[in-house]
Amino acid sequence: MDRNPPTGHAMTAPASQKNHAALEQYRRRAAVYDFELALFEPIRRGAVARLNLKPGDTVLDVGCGTGLSLPLLREAVGPSGRVVGIEQSPDMLAHAKERVRHHRWRNVTLIPASAEEAPIEDRHDAALFHFTHDVLRTPDALANVSQALHPGAAIVACGLQWANPWAWPMNLFVLGAALHSVSSLAGLDKPWSLLATYLDNLRVEPMMAGAVFVARGTKR
Ligand SMILES: C[S@@+](CC[C@H](N)C(=O)[O-])C[C@H]1O[C@@H](n2cnc3c(N)ncnc32)[C@H](O)[C@@H]1O
Repeated sequence: MDRNPPTGHAMTAPASQKNHAALEQYRRRAAVYDFELALFEPIRRGAVARLNLKPGDTVLDVGCGTGLSLPLLREAVGPSGRVVGIEQSPDMLAHAKERVRHHRWRNVTLIPASAEEAPIEDRHDAALFHFTHDVLRTPDALANVSQALHPGAAIVACGLQWANPWAWPMNLFVLGAALHSVSSLAGLDKPWSLLATYLDNLRVEPMMAGAVFVARGTKR
């Protein structure tokens, strides 16, 4: 992993190197991932609520992992809507596929690809980036997702960020969590900064004493 300090001047690892590191991280974590993320469930619910989805909408779940957001997204778009999950880790995706198979969800599609290469058909009404720091720091991934969204589409991103320096216990928590969930610490000072270039009406809210951000906006 690239352990650049949060100076804002850190070099970002090349995309293929980053993807390899992330694939390896999530190969190891897939089996216990849902248990580890239990703490963040209220944030997930808040993030999905901020998408303001309507029945019939189609929504992208970028870096959907094991599919923990799929039930909430499905509930919000209803039977006439559609949820499309994009995930590059075969190990994480296996759990998402099993979730879809188990519940016999017909309106969920899973794309086994990186966000930068995923063939995303149609234009969608919304996109969720839930704890997907690597994706948020990959310009090609943001460009690919953005071209698949209608102008005005709701976009919500949330995840870890450096808290204020005086909140060092929170930053120890961020460091510990980031070391096993992102492939580079670069960009943790403002994880949404690249996404912001695609957004109007950007609003960023700190949560968990500043250790987590929730950013919301609409596609320009
Ligand atoms: C912390 S997990 C979050 C999973 C899910 N969004 C959630 O909230 O539970 C980050 C996920 O992003 C995926 N990921 C990382 N880089 C990616 C990329 N470039 N394209 C697609 N998925 C990616 C990882 O494989 C992992 O499943």
